Amino acid sequence: MDVARVRADFPIFQRSFHGHPLVYLDSAATSQKPRAVLEAEERFYADHNANVHRGVYALSVEATDAYEGARERVARFLHADDPSEVVFVRGTTEALNLVATSLGRSALARGDRVLTTVMEHHSNIVPWQMLRESMGIGLDFVDIDAEGRLRTDDLERHLLRRPKVVTVCHVSNVLGTVNPVREIADRAHAAGSLVVVDAAQSAPHRPIDVRELGADLLAFSGHKVLGPMGIGVLWGRKELLAKMPPAMGGGEMIQEVHQDRVEFREPPARFEAGTPNVGGAVALASALDYLEGVGWDEIAEHERSLLEYSSRQAHERFGERLRIYGPAESRDRQGIQAFSLQGVHPHDIATILDAEGVAVRAGHHCCQPLMERLGVPALTRSSPYIYNDPADIDHLYDGLEKVAQVFA
Ligand SMILES: Cc1ncc(COP(=O)(O)O)c(C=O)c1O
Repeated sequence: MDVARVRADFPIFQRSFHGHPLVYLDSAATSQKPRAVLEAEERFYADHNANVHRGVYALSVEATDAYEGARERVARFLHADDPSEVVFVRGTTEALNLVATSLGRSALARGDRVLTTVMEHHSNIVPWQMLRESMGIGLDFVDIDAEGRLRTDDLERHLLRRPKVVTVCHVSNVLGTVNPVREIADRAHAAGSLVVVDAAQSAPHRPIDVRELGADLLAFSGHKVLGPMGIGVLWGRKELLAKMPPAMGGGEMIQEVHQDRVEFREPPARFEAGTPNVGGAVALASALDYLEGVGWDEIAEHERSLLEYSSRQAHERFGERLRIYGPAESRDRQGIQAFSLQGVHPHDIATILDAEGVAVRAGHHCCQPLMERLGVPALTRSSPYIYNDPADIDHLYDGLEKVAQVFA
């Protein structure tokens, strides 16, 4: 992969911070945007802007075609059977809240159990906790082993209680662990559970095949796959979506409204109340085109080599003083590396790195239950993407050496 060429497509890399060119290692929080994506959104608003699905005039038809074209593009990315399985939402958080609310109103009853994992982002924990509060479901957490992999024995133990829903991230935003979703889904289905997958951290790095994964519902965010903020996707199996009630009511999602009754439209419209983020959807489609243009195999190979380079640097320069969490084997994980540096608080690390132009994130990463499980208050996280190269990793570790000197 020609990183220099990729990087040239991202206007943000012309910027400097504190006298240093930007070294952006926070792509797990949000990715940067290539010019093609920015232009796609601008082109929609400049040339095709009208509200969708409502007008008979030519401009509105264009806007509707652009929106539905974006839905088809996402369906292709997910290997979905039908574009109607793709619901546009604001992001993973909204998708998972939609799922919890809708299943709470239809498939779940007091005393039913939902099984999540200790490595989930808050957005795949809190919506279920809210159902626990409001309707008295039980919520259980699959534990991890010492290397940050989900424990199969613990999964099996929880499945004996026959949860109605098993929900799991494809890739952990802290540990980088790639979960064996297909295997989990097969076990969960055998126990009679629905399988919900949080693909927020996997979608940016690998093409998703919802059927191969064995998912019933799956969510991801546009802004992490080079797209804009405020657009994301909930995919659901057609037969399942057809049975799910809407989470939100309003325009566009109804067949008929009368004073005494309302009839909802078929999915996906049923789940898209109000004016959607059409410009965002169009730009998301363009982001998926961009990633496909770079090539998924090339992206995987590039990220694996960066990960291995980073692990070597960490080991050679810091030895035992720097601990990276998550699986040691690069084939079991993605490039996200959350770490602790002996004797230094993660916020101090991130602040000193910022002065060197290196952007990393420090904190609980919206994974407080995982932090508690790991016994740490916070971690520093480096999360590279297609526009990072080994020189960025060098800057990271040069910066960390400065941090170590300051705190020596
Ligand atoms: C694993 C995971 N799930 C969910 C989310 C939430 O995504 P969003 O904020 O785009 O809704 C994130 C974001 O960091 C994440 O990493």
